[in-house]
Amino acid sequence: MTLANFGLYGLGTMGTALAHNIAENGFNLHVASYRKVDMDSFVANAPAFEGNFTGHDSLADMVRDMPAPRAIIFLIPAGQAVEEAIAQARPHMQPGDVLIDAGNSDFQDTRRRAADLEASGLAYMGMGVSGGEFGARTGPSMMVGGTASVWEAMRPMLEAISAKFEGEPCVDHVGPDGAGHFVKTVHNGIEYADMQLLAESYGLMRHGLTISPAEIGAEFERWNNGPMRSYLAEISAEVLQTIDPKTDKPLVDVIVDTAGQKGTGRWTAIEAQKLGVAANTVEAAVGARVWSAGREARAVGEEIFAPTRGTVAVTTAQIEHAALATRIIGHSQGFDLLSSASDEFGWDLDLSRCAEIWRAGCIIRSELLSGIADAFRNAPPAGLLAYAPEMAATLKDAVPALRAVVGAAIAAGHPVPVMTAALAWFDGMTQSRGTADLIQGQRDFFGRHSFARVDGGSGHHGPWAD
Ligand code: 6PG
Repeated sequence: MTLANFGLYGLGTMGTALAHNIAENGFNLHVASYRKVDMDSFVANAPAFEGNFTGHDSLADMVRDMPAPRAIIFLIPAGQAVEEAIAQARPHMQPGDVLIDAGNSDFQDTRRRAADLEASGLAYMGMGVSGGEFGARTGPSMMVGGTASVWEAMRPMLEAISAKFEGEPCVDHVGPDGAGHFVKTVHNGIEYADMQLLAESYGLMRHGLTISPAEIGAEFERWNNGPMRSYLAEISAEVLQTIDPKTDKPLVDVIVDTAGQKGTGRWTAIEAQKLGVAANTVEAAVGARVWSAGREARAVGEEIFAPTRGTVAVTTAQIEHAALATRIIGHSQGFDLLSSASDEFGWDLDLSRCAEIWRAGCIIRSELLSGIADAFRNAPPAGLLAYAPEMAATLKDAVPALRAVVGAAIAAGHPVPVMTAALAWFDGMTQSRGTADLIQGQRDFFGRHSFARVDGGSGHHGPWAD
């Protein structure tokens, strides 16, 4: 199978950036959007590639006018817009054609759509794309789900436009049907935890150590030369050192402190719950965004309780170590979720490859990912990244700082939900005997749910009165 006729539907920020990237890599591209494409404005930012593009008035027109076999990439919002685009394209497609959903779709939708289209001989791929507008333009990380033969047909183009880590393309076929969108969803769940742990570090330095935003930015810049090196640390440093031209104040001080979310972090937490995987760092990060959005209620709470936010007796180096331990645990939970989903849906995900294709182009690219790829090549104990020898050595070194930071933060009234979640997971997962013996006793007491005994057998009951 070869594919040479590419179309792209959806010329918003991401679609336009990806279209320019595709053209820059020497491919011709048919383009269409919700509205008739204004080719003059579309090529305005990339006049050199004008000859590579053919504009169409609608998706249906584009599919009809393109020679077969066609590969059409959607860069449109997840949900109803994808349903409508499939409905418009489908009547004009023929066996051998491919639709590629490159948005942040729910993997269950992708599984359903792939099964539906494949039943009529059409191919459907769910492709996670990370890196924002800049990544889409200059090289994103891409996680491809779908049939292997279609991936092979798309591969030369996708490898050409992808980010490169030391020359290696940051794109791969991760598995069938919804696997690509699931891997991207978990990428975003990890992204939520990572963003929040940096926000918590910032909060502690700002309000617990009374350091200015610019100095915290400079501290993050230092982090970015060590084991916390990451794209998110880098941009946080820049955001914190930016001055608002209108007020001359640090820009962060004029940004309303309510975080938006489109759903992928929440989906990660929900899928973790469904699959019985602990992802409490992601849950905590989603929860923190939720309460950030309750701005008015927070103001009322402040009035009622007049809380005092005290100083914290920790160093910035301890906060950096706490952040590193939290990052490792957040990633460990994310990869554990990938592993469980792979078993559940029969995807045969290669966790090392997932880490490798996240090393450049994507939002969570970081120093840690090469070590993660190595860790999964050597099957970590109990399948958990946090137990892999190199990660465990770092955690042994960093958890005391995490404990000190979380302890000091809680004592002084600073919320650090993701760091707290990471530490709770660590403490829970490093004790062979926990406290669920009482939970089982309670369950048996009120519901005769039974329990297993340490000296053998299950189905036991306590001698409770009826
Ligand atoms: C990426 C980002 C991208 C997008 C998220 C943000 O990997 O490029 O994750 O997909 O910025 O959808 O999600 P929220 O709006 O939920 O923060």
